[in-house]
Amino acid sequence: MLKGKNILIGVSGSIAAYKIPLLVRLFKKEGANVQIVMSESARDFVTPLTLSALSGNPALTEPFDERDGSWNSHVDMGIWADVLIMAPSSANTLAKMAHGISDNLLVTTYLSAKCPVFFAPAMDLDMYKHPTTAKNVEILKSYGNIVIEPTQGELASGLCGAGRMEEPDEIFRMVQEHFASNKPLQGKKAVVSAGPTYELIDPVRFIGNFSSGYMGLCIAEELAEEGAEVTLVMGPSQYKSEHPLVNQVNIVSSQDMYEACTNAFHSSDIGVMSAAVADYKPSETAENKIKKKTDLMSLDLIKTQDTLAELGSIKSDKQFLVGFALETENEVENAKGKLQRKNLDFIVLNSLQDKGAGFRHKTNKITIIDKNQQITSFDLKSKEEVAKDIVAKIVSDINN
Ligand code: CTP
Repeated sequence: MLKGKNILIGVSGSIAAYKIPLLVRLFKKEGANVQIVMSESARDFVTPLTLSALSGNPALTEPFDERDGSWNSHVDMGIWADVLIMAPSSANTLAKMAHGISDNLLVTTYLSAKCPVFFAPAMDLDMYKHPTTAKNVEILKSYGNIVIEPTQGELASGLCGAGRMEEPDEIFRMVQEHFASNKPLQGKKAVVSAGPTYELIDPVRFIGNFSSGYMGLCIAEELAEEGAEVTLVMGPSQYKSEHPLVNQVNIVSSQDMYEACTNAFHSSDIGVMSAAVADYKPSETAENKIKKKTDLMSLDLIKTQDTLAELGSIKSDKQFLVGFALETENEVENAKGKLQRKNLDFIVLNSLQDKGAGFRHKTNKITIIDKNQQITSFDLKSKEEVAKDIVAKIVSDINN
């Protein structure tokens, strides 16, 4: 869930700052990127070296580093972050946040953040109880910032009461939950086919194609990013998804693909068949390597099972099905035919006439034709961005 997410942690001067290294570790263990911004006084409570070493990025305090001339842009950090966690938030930083005072890198970064902001107050009980602090917390909540309430207990002063910063594992859990609950495909299951198939002629030869599997991998990961639990049925490919919500099933032949996809589709809400499946396979596979004996050699081929057509025929009203069409001529007409024949919700058309589209490119240029005959053409984009366009259309159609 947190893999690849950009987590910005704003540390201010409170004794609870000594717990932030643990919070950093929790995010890093999940594969998130962590950047620390800290106030001058936070450095008295936890060393920048510790936070830099654990986060893998220099912990920043100054907008400008005089030693190497580097400029630490609060604006860039604000754009980069998927979430900002102001922890601990001292009474002073809290007051600055509430009133737009921007006299250091930490609070300018807070003001620049476009992402959700969590803040975890940490101070002595009377400071926390003071009406001005209570008012500042309310102001921040009214801006949509999410308060991580301090807990009750013994404080650094020896006094007992509310003011202890929430424990790192609880802060981590809240942020994790936030990412999980905001996903439009949360609770949905999807099956995606990707890559080529290899149809064996004999033990060493096969009929295959140039598909890399990358487009399907990007679609599977984008569906997972939006919260779906994905089964990725992948033909022979160098790619392997590491996304925690993607279960990759590696197969070889069109028959394997048919079995794995039909199996997974029964319990799926969404099917996206992007694989380049062989349409024909040798009528039989020779047991031993075929020897070259004659000048002319021919192979008997038989039709493979059409996975997409099968899913279209068993699909219920609640299931959503997307197919691909790779065409070289009469593109839109051919794709419309497939859309109808295979009972799809929409079809993604790639034309081999478009430069940079289709196999062996990191880019693709697609046209989406949906069952209402609405046609949308997209520019040439990276396959990651194309996957976002396809998944955005799935999300919007499912919700309408
Ligand atoms: N497909 C499939 N199983 C097959 C063949 C194709 O699931 N045995 C799926 C592909 O994954 C793609 C779509 O069907 O989503 C279109 O495949 P394509 O081979 O282009 O279309 P066909 O219907 O086979 O038509 P034609 O060969 O005439 O282009």
